[in-house]
Amino acid sequence: MAHNPLAPEWLSSPADANTLTDALWPSSARRTDGGAITIGGVTAVDLAARFGTPLYVIDETDARTRATELRAAFDAEFARIGTTVRVYYAAKAFLSTEVARWMVDAGLNIDVCSGGELAVALAAGVAPGRIGFHGNNKSRAEIDDATRVGVGTIIIDSPIEIERVAEAAGRHGLVQNVRLRVNSGVHAHTHEFLATSHEDQKFGVVFEDAPALVAAIRAQPSLNFLGLHCHIGSQIFGVDGFAESASRLLSLQADLLAGGPVPELNLGGGFGIAYTSVDDPSPVADLAAALADIVADECARRGIPVPVIAIEPGRVIIGPAGVTLYEVGTTKPVRIGENTRLYVSVDGGMSDNARPALYGAEYSVRIADRVSDAAPALVRVAGKHCESGDIVVDADYLPGDVAPGDLLMVPATGAYCWSLASNYNYVGRPAVVAVVHGEARVIVRGETIDDLLARDAGVSTRSTSEAGSTNDMKESTR
Ligand code: LLP
Repeated sequence: MAHNPLAPEWLSSPADANTLTDALWPSSARRTDGGAITIGGVTAVDLAARFGTPLYVIDETDARTRATELRAAFDAEFARIGTTVRVYYAAKAFLSTEVARWMVDAGLNIDVCSGGELAVALAAGVAPGRIGFHGNNKSRAEIDDATRVGVGTIIIDSPIEIERVAEAAGRHGLVQNVRLRVNSGVHAHTHEFLATSHEDQKFGVVFEDAPALVAAIRAQPSLNFLGLHCHIGSQIFGVDGFAESASRLLSLQADLLAGGPVPELNLGGGFGIAYTSVDDPSPVADLAAALADIVADECARRGIPVPVIAIEPGRVIIGPAGVTLYEVGTTKPVRIGENTRLYVSVDGGMSDNARPALYGAEYSVRIADRVSDAAPALVRVAGKHCESGDIVVDADYLPGDVAPGDLLMVPATGAYCWSLASNYNYVGRPAVVAVVHGEARVIVRGETIDDLLARDAGVSTRSTSEAGSTNDMKESTR
């Protein structure tokens, strides 16, 4: 089929709408001889039959390998410039106790940004010293808990927090390691970065205020200043924004060294991934090499020692390892002038993936239980919610015979999908299943109608039917 004018410019009609573009899929994804997609050796058909749909599926080997390879690449590149790297997995991308353990197994630390994320990391058995605690409005209770359990670092995000953290650490009779989050004035997104002198945003402290705030931290006997922190954005494809930010931070670092030690520098996270066939993020190994070169050059230029570097990637580790499985409920050709877009509605939507509605995020899709020779048709995959912006995949091509009952898989949903999920329309959050070596197991169960009713104070008796699940769930995923 020729290009459909309703498609975005970047999307061309593929010769074969069954192909799995490698960069988008977990490394174990392939099609069986029968045509079904298999992940971790488990077919989409088996997953749907056993656990129902919608379903989040994580390729365990893929997630572990990405964590291990990222760490190895950064270790090697920063060893080359004479320093070490602490890699923190950004738990906000996806967190469960299992995944926290995979990350620790790979030698990573864990970055949390709420008492809830801290509780999950601790429940996973993560050593508190490996945890970094973030947030622009940590409650007093969160600060108290974090210091009491002995988290490795707290990232101070505002002048007010200096005294709050110092007071809590003092009360617990310990010295708390802290970083100061500064706003470097660089803001990056995908291909571009913006450098403005006065960035107007809620995170971090104003760059020019940092020296006075570091002095205030150093004046607190219950705080130990580790260094600066800066996070310039997320889903960043190139190195330029990181380079600009690192350069600014190291100029500040040089000034701060006059007043005492600054052993570390945390460059944040934000490395991008491919969501569509035209996305082309820099490989992690290239980013590691480029960042090491920049840090080495900037330190040499200023005659300062190369600090220990910390980074906080989330998406690049867990995003490509996850897919979401849906079942098609209805299809509807919608004519717009001369052209037709095929709306394909699935049994999930913005409650399991808010990113298209929130950010206009693009995704890709494939039929998961079969291949087809039918000519490719431009589709929009919509969810089941009462909201016209409830889109899962804004535009892709699928075989034109896509029909009710087909299974669809959307790749690259491992990050910021489950963690941003909601109960809109009282739709329960789907289960998360890990697949590895031909085995599938539930790592977070899905929500049942009972779960959804449980917090309603007006419900006196539990009267949900036997089939009391919010979707058509099968085996004990709920
Ligand atoms: N460190 C800090 C301080 C952050 O705020 C974030 C992400 C990260 C690390 C990890 O960034 P990553 O490597 O995963 O890009 N919900 C949005 C993304 C929000 C990112 C928030 N902060 C999305 O779905 O695109």
